[in-house]
Amino acid sequence: MCGIVGYTGINQVLPKLLKGLEKLEYRGYDSAGVYVNNGVNEDFLVREQGRVSMLELATKNKGISGTAGIAHTRWATHGGVSVKNAHPHMSSDGRFYLVHNGVIENYDVLRDTYLKDIKLNSETDTEIAVQLIDKFAKEEELSAVDAFRKMISLLDENSAYGFLLMDRQTPGLLYTAKKKSPLLIGVAEEGNVVTSDAAAMLDVTNDFIELMDGETAIISKDKVSLFDEHGVEIVREPFTINIDASETDKGVYPYYMLKEVDEQAVVARTLSQHYFDEEGHIKNIDSQITEAIKKADRIYIVAAGTSYHAGLVGKRYFEQWTGIPTEVHIASEFAYDQPLLSNKPFFIFLSQSGETADSREVLDNIVKQGYPSLTIANVMNSTLTREADFALPILAGPEIAVASTKAYTAQVIVEAILAYAVGDADIDLKHELARVAVEMQVIIDQKEVFNDIAKTALHNRHSAFYIGRGLDAAVAVEAALKLKEISYVQTEGFAAGELKHGTISLIEEGTPVFALLTQEKTAGLVRGEIAQVAARGAKTIVLASESIAKENDDYILPNVNELLMPLLAVIPAQLIAYYATLDRGLDVDRPRNLAKSVTVQ
Ligand code: M6R
Repeated sequence: MCGIVGYTGINQVLPKLLKGLEKLEYRGYDSAGVYVNNGVNEDFLVREQGRVSMLELATKNKGISGTAGIAHTRWATHGGVSVKNAHPHMSSDGRFYLVHNGVIENYDVLRDTYLKDIKLNSETDTEIAVQLIDKFAKEEELSAVDAFRKMISLLDENSAYGFLLMDRQTPGLLYTAKKKSPLLIGVAEEGNVVTSDAAAMLDVTNDFIELMDGETAIISKDKVSLFDEHGVEIVREPFTINIDASETDKGVYPYYMLKEVDEQAVVARTLSQHYFDEEGHIKNIDSQITEAIKKADRIYIVAAGTSYHAGLVGKRYFEQWTGIPTEVHIASEFAYDQPLLSNKPFFIFLSQSGETADSREVLDNIVKQGYPSLTIANVMNSTLTREADFALPILAGPEIAVASTKAYTAQVIVEAILAYAVGDADIDLKHELARVAVEMQVIIDQKEVFNDIAKTALHNRHSAFYIGRGLDAAVAVEAALKLKEISYVQTEGFAAGELKHGTISLIEEGTPVFALLTQEKTAGLVRGEIAQVAARGAKTIVLASESIAKENDDYILPNVNELLMPLLAVIPAQLIAYYATLDRGLDVDRPRNLAKSVTVQ
């Protein structure tokens, strides 16, 4: 978690850093800070608890001027949410300033071994790192970069870091290093940047050099020097990221989430164009991928959160269309409790960010065991896409709201396309997806219906349920996550048949129970379950597909191929969550305690 941005160039740095931080707020937003050096012996450190907008206010009227600086937005790991724990952290004598993304696992040992005499100003692991740099520079008369490297050499193997350092004695230089946490160096005519996410610096450049684990770099306004883990200088060409800076703006929307929900039909069409040719044959999926999957006797889908939920839907496509048994696993569980594997497993990692630490841990483990893997992700060039054998993009465009929406539907679509490419489904998937895109738009255009449902069913309610069977049960867990994570209404997603085995005791007068009914085979049973909760006072809200719907159902979903109904059924749930959250006056895009990209385990 945490967002890092730095710039050294010919222009004023503060506006660039603040703008970059705004774009990075999705990575954490409990405090933020900035350090600027004007190159002629004046520097500025400002840190604030709360959002980047608070930091922006705090920097006003301070006469901050300078063309080099670093900044950070934090998601607390070591130490509570406070100004003193906000980054950048400063060495005691005010010489070094450091921002950090990651966790230093052995920070307490380092503190007790090396820093007994130093008065620490924060509870963070990061301050230990900057104090160590200062100590080594002073006591061993090391240059900034050598002191930086010495500090890094003391971190234990479980530590993760993206570091960005400035030294008052070399005001125009940025020092950076990374292991397990993403960092990119951006190059431009006007200067160079360092960032944990390219999206934050697209106003400056689209050309980035990837920093690999163990490497360090020294960056000035007109030069980037890259060093391998032994300190030997290396050369790496930049690559271009083809994202327009405007894609990461909210545009006319009040919240990113609404924009991203709205984009789903376009993303579905983009995916069709990318993965199908005119005749409906698959393209852009290397035959090495399909061949590797065909050789497998079992597919293991590994992911977290919403991506895990997309896996629950995808399992059906792989099993039905390829005939290969498929298991879906929560990454954080799999990582430390690996199940007994089949003889020829094939691993599929699903991830929006491609940086989720829990999934990375599993990928690390299975690479060591020599198993083949594919990552399906939104952010290509991310760790999970780089470190798996194969990667496929979901082409959803930047997803900024913490609540994942378009990445979910895009992941489900790519899973369907991949299963279709491997197996022999008896449908024209290109044609079916075209219908899905049309019907997605129909649902999206009926926002007011969901606004009304959210207000009537959820106003002042503290708990809710989503129920369904089969694929609807898979969507129910995602629907529940959407509602609970942003509106804070405690919501459970349930296989409808399970209710009577315990949970039905929670139903009381007015408890909202949303029922998803898109699967013909089990529709009658779910109708029975709806009646059972209604008889106990629940306020039922029935979202049924056209062919199953009855008079008085609350929303009729257009019909598409039943296997693809999750792509439609999830949209009302996303919009109900959005409007319930608005109704409560909460920040839709930035729910408390969360961050978009979960880069710590
Ligand atoms: O980037 P990833 O898809 O790997 O992230 C996994 C989860 O953290 C993520 O899906 C999370 O559950 C969503 N932001 C919730 O809406």
